[in-house]
Amino acid sequence: MSFCSHCLRCLVLFVLSSSALAAAPQGVVAVSHPAAAAAGARMLAQGGNAIDAAAAVQFALNVVEPQSSGIGGGGFMLIHLAKTGQTVIVDSREQAPAAARADMFAPDGLPMPFLLASTSGLAVGVPGTLRGVDTALRRWGTMKLAVTMAPAIELAERGFRVNRFMAEDIAHDGGRTQLQPETAATFRPDGVPLVEGDWLVQRDLAKTLKLIAAKGPNVFYRGPMARAIVKAQQRTRDEMGTAGKGRMTLADLANYQVAIRKPLMGHYRGWTLAGMPPPSSGGLTTVQMLNLLERFPLGDTKQGYGFGSPKTLHVMIEAMRLAFADRAVWIGDDDAVPVPQTGLLHPDYLATRSALINPDSRMVTPQAGNPLPWDSSITAKPKATRTHQESPHTTHFSIVDRWGNVVSYTSTIETTWGSGITVPGYGFLLNNELTDFNFMPTVDVAAGNPGANDVAPAKRPRSSMAPTLLLKDGKPVAAFGSPGGATIINSVFNVTLNLIDHGMTLQQAINAPRLSVTHAAGQVSCEGGAPFMQPAFSVATQDALRTLGHIGLGEMGTEGCEQKIGSVQAVVMDLATGTYNGAADPRREGTVIWVKPAVALPNWPL
Ligand code: GLY
Repeated sequence: MSFCSHCLRCLVLFVLSSSALAAAPQGVVAVSHPAAAAAGARMLAQGGNAIDAAAAVQFALNVVEPQSSGIGGGGFMLIHLAKTGQTVIVDSREQAPAAARADMFAPDGLPMPFLLASTSGLAVGVPGTLRGVDTALRRWGTMKLAVTMAPAIELAERGFRVNRFMAEDIAHDGGRTQLQPETAATFRPDGVPLVEGDWLVQRDLAKTLKLIAAKGPNVFYRGPMARAIVKAQQRTRDEMGTAGKGRMTLADLANYQVAIRKPLMGHYRGWTLAGMPPPSSGGLTTVQMLNLLERFPLGDTKQGYGFGSPKTLHVMIEAMRLAFADRAVWIGDDDAVPVPQTGLLHPDYLATRSALINPDSRMVTPQAGNPLPWDSSITAKPKATRTHQESPHTTHFSIVDRWGNVVSYTSTIETTWGSGITVPGYGFLLNNELTDFNFMPTVDVAAGNPGANDVAPAKRPRSSMAPTLLLKDGKPVAAFGSPGGATIINSVFNVTLNLIDHGMTLQQAINAPRLSVTHAAGQVSCEGGAPFMQPAFSVATQDALRTLGHIGLGEMGTEGCEQKIGSVQAVVMDLATGTYNGAADPRREGTVIWVKPAVALPNWPL
């Protein structure tokens, strides 16, 4: 494996000074699992484009990383089309059933305990991944659905070796692989948890994938499989009784709608980011944080900034606190409750927010701002709302093909193992995405709270997923994203600063230690740089942050960066050399594969 040795600034300088491209670029896939990366590479080698490869990766991930994503979940596929220069997003986010109600997670006026709610059928949203992948293939792919499913079917039928990461996720599952018999039978056969190196065959899943390959996606959304899904999500936990029963019906499945969206466009120091608009907070919150910091010379070590300096980390924390305060109030599914996107990104609004950041002292807990004076379409007034626990899991992969089409795709079943409910006889896990909604209704017309993320029929829960494309002068130069619940946004934010302000290569930007805050109150979490388990920021740096009053890092003089935050998989369009490159995160089994046109790859596994 080797990685791009150029920083983005060098690449762009070359692009601006030369129009000549060298040899025909190879396609590249960067994925969190080698077998899924091989599935995507196989499509590219067979002449497929990035969309075909993305379909194959997603199906393969359903087999080899089933705890993170799959046909029982949803996701956002950002696609850049080389021919037209257009960027589109296929939104296959789960939808709430028609019978969902704002108080369904608080039937007695109190929020349900998260673990109970998230392991009951009530949390299951109508899955969108299969419709989304099929839609993308039909509109922009070149291969048939069945062709892209072949590697996944082989992996499910023949099996593969359980890697360290899946073994750890089984061992530390919070009970999620133990609660339902079908899930336990697959991942804890005879009551014994699978460990690294075990061989895992998934016959039910293979049968399901074959059925879909033969008959198309409708076989999932209608008929016996749909009936099995509806029945499975009626499972609940004893403690919850009927309150925990899922509300999805056959009609909800039959009516599931993929949305094709325009990306949210943001600008930072002369670069353009194409990111995920609502129902995700990913794009808006990332761009807000970047713009809040534009007035600070983050790359300038002479002024006390530079990568990892206490001053840089301090202003990053403050920007995160401000942006997450806005996110808690204003961002949800824009199809259901209007989101003041124009106001939230207006330079004058952001200037008022950025003025709250003092480089020498920590602010008191900020409230959400009021972007409405900069957004004429919306009339409510803000009032802060609570946010609830979010999960640290999901998956991201990035692909570029030889023609320059790019896919940046974040996909999820919400928490690791989703609801923990495997559809009996069909072998795939159902999501618990509806726990991304507010557990208690927050709408308050008098106080001007829009209830942006309250549960409602057919609504999509607010996401943090942030598949991102970085462009310069209209040309894509890098695609990246991460898993990690709300920390996704901060992983993308950290990597973007590393690339633009700190001049790192893509691999350095991914390997560097990261820091995250997901609430206005400002609890800081941080993780080591790769190779994983190395200290993140020095104890002296952490002490400097503690002295400023930042919380979450533990006692003075101790190592407080022990969290796991993200797993960034990325590709970079290296126009300087006429090649494309990739970089993967060593924090999971991130894998990059380069594919020369017309060179066949072996099947996986051999
Ligand atoms: N399930 C993670 C997210 O949507 O943010």
